[in-house]
Amino acid sequence: MGPGPVNADPRVLRAMSAQLVGQYDPSMTAYMNETMELYRGVFKTTNEQTLLIDGTSRAGIEAALVSLISPGDRVLVPIFGRFGHLLREIAERAGAEVHVREVEWGTVFTPAQIEQAIRETKPALLAIVHGDTSTTVAQPLDELGDICARHGVLFYTDVTASLAGNTFEADAWGLDAVTAGLQKCLGGPSGSAPATFSPRAVEVINARKSIEAGIREAGDAVSAHPIRSNYFDLSMIFDYWGPKRLNHHTEATTMLYGARECARLLVDEGIDAAVERHRLHGAAMLAGVQGLGLAVFGDLEHRMNNVVAVRIPEGVTGDAVRGELLNDFGIEIGTSFGPLHGKVWRIGTMGYNARKDTVLTTLAALEQVLRRSGATVTGGGGVGAAYEVYQDAAGS
Ligand SMILES: Cc1ncc(COP(=O)(O)O)c(C=O)c1O
Repeated sequence: MGPGPVNADPRVLRAMSAQLVGQYDPSMTAYMNETMELYRGVFKTTNEQTLLIDGTSRAGIEAALVSLISPGDRVLVPIFGRFGHLLREIAERAGAEVHVREVEWGTVFTPAQIEQAIRETKPALLAIVHGDTSTTVAQPLDELGDICARHGVLFYTDVTASLAGNTFEADAWGLDAVTAGLQKCLGGPSGSAPATFSPRAVEVINARKSIEAGIREAGDAVSAHPIRSNYFDLSMIFDYWGPKRLNHHTEATTMLYGARECARLLVDEGIDAAVERHRLHGAAMLAGVQGLGLAVFGDLEHRMNNVVAVRIPEGVTGDAVRGELLNDFGIEIGTSFGPLHGKVWRIGTMGYNARKDTVLTTLAALEQVLRRSGATVTGGGGVGAAYEVYQDAAGS
């Protein structure tokens, strides 16, 4: 019940135990096409270039940024938590002239602040996290696409922690590039990064297309300024997933089975229903920790549905409580990074673990462990408050 990774859905685990096939086996290419279509549904996009980057979520981020950024490009990174710093770091390594703006952790930017920063820095690309698990708040993105379009800026976001648990609409919000991971609300393991790219992003990426010498044919593209990574060269990865099936890496078959099953689960449930499930169980967890008498961190108006940051009460050792929850109840919760390390616990309700039984059990266990650690808690207040949220939802 931490900020992710969390338990995988058993259907995903079963899918990942299927026999391997090579990437040119017709069944495999069919799975690849099917996976592209499934993720169009998950991202709410019609983008042709919707595929998997092999590697954890940051592989997706790195592929997007190294492929979209030409050295010397100006990139704007508004930072409101740990993962904004990661975007800055990756953009800098890709050779960008990075401009950052920062707000206090636990808060988000207004659209006016972002537009002002765009006016001041005139970037080629805006790179921003959607839900930053380190602070548990989500940046509203719905107005940023129009701003980027007005200023001719490409718009990238990292939805690793938020996708499928919070409303997200790649096309309606004007996104050019989006990358994710499986280990949060998608109910899978880390190791595959679903991603989608708009036609405008594809044009920028393909302008630097270079086909590897060993597989190049007469007339094939050889850019004078190729993308600075071979593994993460999206122009090559597009050709690998597309009808050309041009050889690139050896597809991670087992991860593809897992990623495909994560998307099938979401499409079966309905993506809006999955978001609503995360909203309900997240609301029950929030009410529960407050019902125990604990304070929560961050701007609640912008909180992510799938994770809540709870202030560690005075006199309580955060890691000792985490240890007892894990050792005595088999429940893992997280702490946080940087300025929040040791100050908050992060409790997740995501993916396969966004369920009533996990919420109620976690609250019951937390109450006992807190009591043993000497904290003052409201007896039965956690489970009781969560039950009220479930009763209200059932009655509405
Ligand atoms: C918002 C966000 N971005 C990126 C990452 C990095 O993901 P990974 O560890 O899968 O590379 C995480 C991991 O928690 C995250 O929450």
